Amino acid sequence: MTEIRTPRLLLRRWHDDDLAPMADIDADPRVMRWIDDGSVLPAVAISWRFGPQFWGQGYASEAAHATLEFALQDRGLDRVISISQVGDDASENIMRKLGMEWESETAHPVHGRPLRVHAIDLTEFQA
Ligand SMILES: CC(C)(COP(=O)(O)OP(=O)(O)OC[C@H]1O[C@@H](n2cnc3c(N)ncnc32)[C@H](O)[C@@H]1OP(=O)(O)O)[C@@H](O)C(=O)NCCC(=O)NCCS
Repeated sequence: MTEIRTPRLLLRRWHDDDLAPMADIDADPRVMRWIDDGSVLPAVAISWRFGPQFWGQGYASEAAHATLEFALQDRGLDRVISISQVGDDASENIMRKLGMEWESETAHPVHGRPLRVHAIDLTEFQA
């Protein structure tokens, strides 16, 4: 089973006993403000979601960088996207720091709120 380790984090597949703490995180309206129902998109996308007590310590950036490295370098994906709702400045900041380029703006297929699509390929990631 694949695991990704960063200096402070372990990214791994779900365990059954993750369900209860994740349900607590998802029940927090501060966490879900920009996420809606979190439906899966027709692309390989990265996103991030932490309990508020872990915000502001660089964990999202650290995990996202390691995940892009795994997706683009290890697994050889052509491209990875990340989507943010307009107004989710923290996520846009993370995408910018990762080197992801703002590609297009679209609308959420269900509620119509504006979304920004960012993308990166291996060349851009290594630049
Ligand atoms: C989005 C989220 C993961 C960010 O977590 P975090 O731990 O603050 O992220 P990081 O510390 O790695 O980096 C965030 C960057 O954005 C900045 N930032 C944080 N909140 C911000 C805000 N409200 N406005 C602008 N910038 C902000 C931070 O300063 C940091 O930039 P820096 O490294 O240059 O200082 C966290 O807020 C969260 O889980 N939110 C709820 C879930 C969510 O909305 N996910 C997004 C779905 S795409």
